[in-house]
Formats: sequence, C-alpha cells, structure tokens
Amino acid sequence: MSDGFDVVSVINAKGGAGKTSLTKVLISAALASGQKVVAFDCDPTQNLMGWVDKAKEAGNWPSNAAAFEARTAKEIVEALNQLTDEGFDGLVFVDTAGFGDKASLYMVNNSDFVILPIMLGSDSVGTTLETATVVTQMVDQLDEGKKAVVRVVRCNIPTLSNRRKGHSENFDRLGQHPLCLNAYISNSPIIELWTDEGPLHSRFKREENTVEGAKALNAKNTMKVLQEGLAVINELFEEAE
Ligand SMILES: Nc1ncnc2c1ncn2[C@@H]1O[C@H](COP(=O)(O)OP(=O)(O)OP(=O)(O)O)[C@@H](O)[C@H]1O
Ligand SMILES: [Mg+2]
Repeated sequence: MSDGFDVVSVINAKGGAGKTSLTKVLISAALASGQKVVAFDCDPTQNLMGWVDKAKEAGNWPSNAAAFEARTAKEIVEALNQLTDEGFDGLVFVDTAGFGDKASLYMVNNSDFVILPIMLGSDSVGTTLETATVVTQMVDQLDEGKKAVVRVVRCNIPTLSNRRKGHSENFDRLGQHPLCLNAYISNSPIIELWTDEGPLHSRFKREENTVEGAKALNAKNTMKVLQEGLAVINELFEEAE
C-alpha cells in the first residue's frame, strides 16, 4: 500500500473464527523472522491489546514491536500516515472486530493483504467463504495498485492423526478453493496456553512437572506455530508478486 511497509488486515464476518489468534501468530512469526511490527486493534473488546498489555507487564514485549488501539477509520488513517512519515519499513497487522463496520471496510480498501481465518467443522465455513467473495468483489473495484491480495487461512486444524474423517475431507476440499492458502495454522496447545506470555518464543510456560519437560514441549509447539505463521506470510507475499 505504501512504499515502506505492508499492511495485513484480519477480518471475518463470523465471530470467534480465530482472527485475534491468527493475528498473534503472525505478529510472533514476523518478529521471530527479524521484522519490525506495528499492530492495531480495531475491536472494542480489545483482546489483542489485552495480550499486548500483559506481555508488557511480564517484560515480554519486544522493542521492535508497537501496538495501538485504533477504533475508527479516522484513527487508522492517522496512524498509518504517521508510520509513513516516520519511514516505518516493517509489517503492520490489523485485528478487526469482524466485517462490515467502518474500520474493517476501511481496511478492505487500504491494505496490501486481507486474510480471513476459517475453522473447519463449524458453521463458519460458509459465512467465511461468502465474506471472502464479497471482499474480493470490493477489492476488484479498486484502482490497479490499490487492490489487496485476499486469502482464506485454515486455522485451528487438528494434527493429521487427530483429524476425523469429516475434518480431513473439509480440509482438502477447502484447500482447493481459489482463495485458500496452502499454508495453515494447526490446533496448537501453545495458542490455548497463551495468556501473558506475549509473542511466541518470548517465554515458555512451565506446565509440565519439570522445567526441562515444559521447555521441550513448548519449544516444539512454539517452533511449529512460528513456522506455520511464517509460511502464511511467505505465501501471501509470493501471491502479491
Ligand atoms: N490455531 C489454534 N489452536 C488452538 N486454538 C485456537 C486456534 N485458533 C483459535 N483458537 C481458539 O479459538 C477461540 C476463538 O479465537 P479468537 O478469539 O482468535 O477468535 P476471534 O475471531 O478473534 O473472536 P472475536 O470475534 O471474539 O474477536 C479461542 O479460544 C482460541 O484460543
Ligand atoms: Mg478477536
């Protein structure tokens, strides 16, 4: 969208579809790969800001990341303009309250990437795909060079061995959808455990009997989710080329 930085907005008309979780994963993955990050929380529930605030309190919020509450389109415009003025050259992530409010509509028209998380096996699949189609049509109306890449990301996906038959079929079928990325985010205990830790890899939770055990378990899950988040980011950027 601007010369210096890329804007990734996370939307979905369906509540509880995994927007905030996906945003956290992508923030973590971008930071882990050494990029600078600015995040905006446009949701009145302020779930993302709650996570950021707890991370800050715990001393787990990195210096190359910043996060702001930006409820209205006007606030977002001003914040993005300020980043341009400052010469920011990292990634901007925007967690929205859903789809249809002014902030999310503004982001559909002013992002480089719009992504919609989708969870299998729930009644949200149809709603998400419909929203993705509407968003694509909106973006198609924009001038060349202003069109965001719109993609669906499968989230909260059980591991292969835990995938029930229906899950597997839906996973594969959805993967054939032209808007669906190959990269996806697993159902990971590390996401459920995530409270005050802040961006992944900043801290490991000691829920096992031994610290070493906890570190080994969480390190594995953490690495996996970080790699998945990075795969999503990389695939998006490839699609933009
Ligand atoms: N990959 C995942 N692994 C495990 N749990 C997940 C994953 N993704 C999402 N969840 C769980 O799904 C629930 C809903 O996720 P989340 O809060 O991110 O959705 P949301 O779209 O932001 O909701 P809201 O509409 O309230 O903003 C949470 O309990 C979260 O922990
Ligand atoms: Mg949310």
